[in-house]
Amino acid sequence: MCGIMGYLGPKAATPILLDGLRRLEYRGYDSAGIAVHDGTSLSVAKAEGKLDRLVGQLDVQPLVGSYGIGHTRWATHGPPSDRNAHPHTNPDGEVAVVHNGIIENFTALKEELIAKGAAFASDTDTEVIAHLVAEEYDGDLLEAVRRAVRRAEGAYALVAMSKEEPGRIVAVRMISPLVVGVGDGEMFLASDIPAVLHHTRSFAVIDNGEMVDLSPDGWHIETLDGTAVERDLLEVDWDAEQAERGGYPHFMLKEIFEQPAAATETLSGRITEDGTVDLDGVDWPEGLVENLDRIWITACGTAFHAGLVGKEIFERLLRVPTEAAYAHEMRYRDPIITGTTMTLAISQSGETADTLAAANLAKERGSRLLALTNVVGSTLSRDADDVLFTRAGPEISVASTKAYLTMLVGEYLLALALGERRGAFDASDHAELVEALRHLPVKIEEALERDAEVAEVADRFIGHEDVYFIGRGLDNAVAMEGSLKMKEISYIHSEAMPAGELKHGTLALVTEGTPVVVVLTQSDVYDKTVSAIQEVKARGAFVVAVAFEDDGEVAKHADEVLRIPRVPDILSPVVSIVPLQLLAYHVASARGHDIDQPRNLAKSVTVE
Ligand code: F6R
Repeated sequence: MCGIMGYLGPKAATPILLDGLRRLEYRGYDSAGIAVHDGTSLSVAKAEGKLDRLVGQLDVQPLVGSYGIGHTRWATHGPPSDRNAHPHTNPDGEVAVVHNGIIENFTALKEELIAKGAAFASDTDTEVIAHLVAEEYDGDLLEAVRRAVRRAEGAYALVAMSKEEPGRIVAVRMISPLVVGVGDGEMFLASDIPAVLHHTRSFAVIDNGEMVDLSPDGWHIETLDGTAVERDLLEVDWDAEQAERGGYPHFMLKEIFEQPAAATETLSGRITEDGTVDLDGVDWPEGLVENLDRIWITACGTAFHAGLVGKEIFERLLRVPTEAAYAHEMRYRDPIITGTTMTLAISQSGETADTLAAANLAKERGSRLLALTNVVGSTLSRDADDVLFTRAGPEISVASTKAYLTMLVGEYLLALALGERRGAFDASDHAELVEALRHLPVKIEEALERDAEVAEVADRFIGHEDVYFIGRGLDNAVAMEGSLKMKEISYIHSEAMPAGELKHGTLALVTEGTPVVVVLTQSDVYDKTVSAIQEVKARGAFVVAVAFEDDGEVAKHADEVLRIPRVPDILSPVVSIVPLQLLAYHVASARGHDIDQPRNLAKSVTVE
């Protein structure tokens, strides 16, 4: 994620930049920095750790000037440290850059620059941009940034300043969000509106592929190919609390709607041009993957439910026996683990005590340990042999949504990477899966567009005290997560089980009007799940099905259908979970609960 800021106006830039960064800290807070121009020189201050460290540093050594840029970091390339904190400059300090997102071809660019004699001071992809802008600079910052951006691939936003052009700031949006706040004789740049909402209520939202040029004469937007863009100002009337949540009533809803962008980040740079998977942070030794005879997946709660999806897809795609185990169970079992076992530990926080214990048990017994986690620098990421970061950005709501969805995307990438090494794929199947994976963010977006329909269905759940979720195979894994979301924030008792299991006991609880949610996306077991719908319908259940938009059958069986866009069956969890997250959200909201902090729960469970 990362948060970026810029200021140009008559006031002192430093306090405005620091205040904006404080409001952007939710996007990352492992280090922070600013660069300020005083009309003659361009100075940089940066520090590892929370913003307060930088503030302390600036108290002792202030940076004076009326325009500047700032950054609060969520590490992707290189660990949190002073040297990896932004802004980055070229070695002569002529160009300063802050950046959010990933420069996918940074290794190739860095090698090219090193071959020409460039020296680098950090491990980041951002520093490459500072070098490129300096290399392209011939007196016009806008043109230098344009040429640099043409050489840099990826999903990102960046802001640049030059020592040579006091009073000018240039920014670019390539997918990652960016807005210009337009005040009275002053201008702001920020990753989101709330960061500067107390300075102005007028905003120009920068679109993908656009550049913005700020100078004392004003601001203008143009496309990368130089076409001027007229942009109407957006007048924002959110109150302070709404602003912190980006205008959403709760962080949970905000995070649900961030999922297309989060999935884009998870995929970014990990599928190469030839369609193979290249995972940063994963370096399996020769022979390990080829000789793998078992995979353990260990996690808790929502992360465990992501593990259930992992089990299904690893077994289906790789034909390697895979066990998904609750970490609190696995740590006290005597799991069968050998040197040809791989263990995948999944954790948003990377700090869940049970998951760390199970992961380390597996490692002690000789398993290769792979972490799938959201938090760079977390204990799990440090304990593991290999790490795949989900890059969902900070998740504030206790009920996990975007972290779960990006765990799923991470597992598909892992399955592909493992399968490529094991020669498990037919070329056309592989190409089809990769193509579908690339399109997932758009499909997630389409699923979110049906929010209003989900909200209507949610009304039917409000007065109930028991709800059941069913499905088969991958649909069962999603039903488990949908059920957990429902119970943890709505406080309605909810149970999930494989559709075939109902008749072995739980059916006794289904009476007139009992809500039963059926996930129905797997064509190979479709008819079998429809039989389970008949069983509950015969007892008077109110059935809500989650099904593909092109399913012409389902409406004959279910009372309500929550439609999802068509994706290959194997990828369905990534979209079928979306209406279930929204359903839980709307039910809890209608019941008036504290959605972001449900009773008795905590975001990170660091006790056993
Ligand atoms: C539920 C939820 C929890 C966590 C669980 C593990 O919405 O968020 O069930 O998934 O506590 O947490 P992490 O993923 O941090 O290990």
